[in-house]
Amino acid sequence: MAGGNRATLGGAANSDMAEYWNDRAGPNWVRYQRQLDGQIHVLGEMAMDRAVLQPGQNVLDIGCGCGDSALGLARRVGKNGSVLGVDISAPMLDHARQRAALEAELNLRFEQADAQTHKFPPAAFEHAFSRFGVMFFDDPVAAFSNIRGALKENGRLSFVCWRALDENPWMSVALGVAYIFVAPPEAIPPNSPGPFMLAAPDRVREILSAAGYADISVAPLNEEIYLSGPGTVAEAAQHTCRMGPVARVLADSDDDTKRQVEAALNTTLAPYHDGTGVRMASSCSIVTAGVGSY
Ligand SMILES: C[S@@+](CC[C@H](N)C(=O)[O-])C[C@H]1O[C@@H](n2cnc3c(N)ncnc32)[C@H](O)[C@@H]1O
Repeated sequence: MAGGNRATLGGAANSDMAEYWNDRAGPNWVRYQRQLDGQIHVLGEMAMDRAVLQPGQNVLDIGCGCGDSALGLARRVGKNGSVLGVDISAPMLDHARQRAALEAELNLRFEQADAQTHKFPPAAFEHAFSRFGVMFFDDPVAAFSNIRGALKENGRLSFVCWRALDENPWMSVALGVAYIFVAPPEAIPPNSPGPFMLAAPDRVREILSAAGYADISVAPLNEEIYLSGPGTVAEAAQHTCRMGPVARVLADSDDDTKRQVEAALNTTLAPYHDGTGVRMASSCSIVTAGVGSY
């Protein structure tokens, strides 16, 4: 049972998130890994391009999930380099390990760890990277400071994270459709752990400076992305109801309501199909920073 492995994480930090990513979201991320990678793979690759990794480097992948970015990083640093993927979710890590086993030539391993509190080997990595895995810490300054301790003197941090919901039509348009049929949930307090915790560039800069980083850059990345990878409108509408913000809003709805939302999404999403799949605008930040002085 995946949730049983939460005990190995130790401490009370991020306990709600550990429960969420082990018992609820994690199994869905495994089930829909192909569609999710089809959606965000391109954003991770662009963030890796900006990271300017060198063969032979040792890289930490934070919140590596089902392993797509860790595999990409390991291909970039080659067999003389190494990648350690860490995540709090046991089911996602199991899936990542299975994928990595298919590319045995890569120097890649995974560890279940809370990146906020885990005792990483000090000054062990040239680079710490994350694809949407650093927005869930209950104490982001402590977490980024802990990660900084794992970086070498000239080490670098880079990650990609979402900007605000209203800058991300790929989420907000479908949510707008869902809210015709179900009441919106109560707004969560700003800056809470979740997909939009690092949406504001100024807040990212504040957190990273407080955690000791220097040379901080928060650059916009505005890209069209597939809603669920290449495919039909019907597949995109179905995926949207099964996974992500719309699925969360519909979690307690009856089957009839879910069917109505999916039908309405079929209509709303159709104009966004470009002949290969439903593609919509997204907005992220690519953040890079140096370790600064000790
Ligand atoms: C949005 S998912 C992204 C997963 C993966 N990076 C990807 O792009 O497919 C967020 C990931 O962060 C992980 N996570 C959340 N809080 C964490 C923490 N405190 N330490 C390590 N991983 C964490 C979750 O388990 C999940 O795998």
